[in-house]
Amino acid sequence: MAIMDVNDAGAQNHDLVPHKGFKLINGTHDPDDVDQIYDLEIRDSDVFVVTYPKSGTIWMQQILLLLEAKGDLTAISKLSKYSNAELIPWIELMGNRQTFITAPSPRMRVSHLPFQFMPSALSQKKGKVIYVARNPKDVVVSYFYFHKLANMLETPTDFDDFFERFLRGDVFGGSWFQHIKTWYSHKDDMNMLFITYEELIQDLQAAVQRIASFLGKELSAEQLAQVVTHSTFSNMKKIPQANYEQVPGELLSHHQGRFMRKGTVGDWKKHFTVFQSERFDQLFHREMADIPLVFLWDIEDVA
Ligand code: A3P
Repeated sequence: MAIMDVNDAGAQNHDLVPHKGFKLINGTHDPDDVDQIYDLEIRDSDVFVVTYPKSGTIWMQQILLLLEAKGDLTAISKLSKYSNAELIPWIELMGNRQTFITAPSPRMRVSHLPFQFMPSALSQKKGKVIYVARNPKDVVVSYFYFHKLANMLETPTDFDDFFERFLRGDVFGGSWFQHIKTWYSHKDDMNMLFITYEELIQDLQAAVQRIASFLGKELSAEQLAQVVTHSTFSNMKKIPQANYEQVPGELLSHHQGRFMRKGTVGDWKKHFTVFQSERFDQLFHREMADIPLVFLWDIEDVA
C-alpha cells in the first residue's frame, strides 16, 4: 500500500481524486507527476515491483533489499533509519519521480499504478517488472484492516461497507480485476516475472530463487538461505524497518494494528459471509474468464 514519504507528513484523511480512469490519493499523489512517469527513461538495471495494494509489496521490498545485500540483514539496517519504503520507494508518490531520474543504479521501485501510467519503455523490454498478485478475497480483508491503520485513507464503517467499495473499485488501486488483467495481458511485451503471494507462502525458498535468477543475482546457497530467513513473516515482524514502524503516527495509526498483520492464505473465510463469497466468485469468474490464472484461496487446499 502506498504511503507518503515519511518526511512529508502533511496529508490525513483525504479523499480519492479521480484521474484518467484511476483514483489517486489527494495529498499523496500529484496527478501531473504521475502523468510524467510514462515518459521516464528506463535503464536495463531498473526494477519495478508492481502490485495491487495489500498483495505483498513490503515482502518483495524485503526480498529485493536482501538479494542486493546478499542476505546480510545488517547491511540493510545500516542503509536507512526509516523503513523499506525509503529504500525501495513508490514511484508514484509526490516527488519520487524526480529523485528516480538521478538515482544511481540499480534503481528499484514499487508501484500500485495501473499499466497505462507506467513508463512506456518497459513495453520495449527495458528494465524489469515483478508483478505480485494475491488472491483478491484475502486482499479485501487485508485492505479493510489497512484502512483502519492508514490515516490517508478514509476508515470504512464496517467490513460490509468496505466489501462493497472494493467491488465497485472505489478504493485506491481501483478495480482489482482491471489492474491484474491489464498488467497480465502485457506481460510478454515486458521483462516480467509474474508471481503470486501464495507461491511465496507455499515455498519461499523456491520463490526467492526464481526472483534471484530473474534479476540475474548470483548468490551462494548460504546467502540465499539468509534471504529466506530474513523474509519470513515471523522474522519480518521483528524487524522495525520491514514493519514500517518508523512511519510517523500522522500517517499510520500504529495503535490500530500492524502492517504485518496475519500473513496467511484464507483469512477471508473468517470475514466473508456465504453470500459475499458467492457474489465474489461470480464476479471473479465473469471478469477472469479469459485469464488463465489459478489462485490458491485457502492454505488448507494445499494439503
Ligand atoms: P495481511 O494483512 O493479510 O496480513 P502490502 O505490503 O502490499 O501492503 O501487503 C501487506 C500484506 O502482506 C499483509 O497481509 C502482510 O501481513 C503481508 N506480508 C508482508 N510480509 C509478509 C511475509 N513475509 N509473509 C507473509 N505475508 C506477508
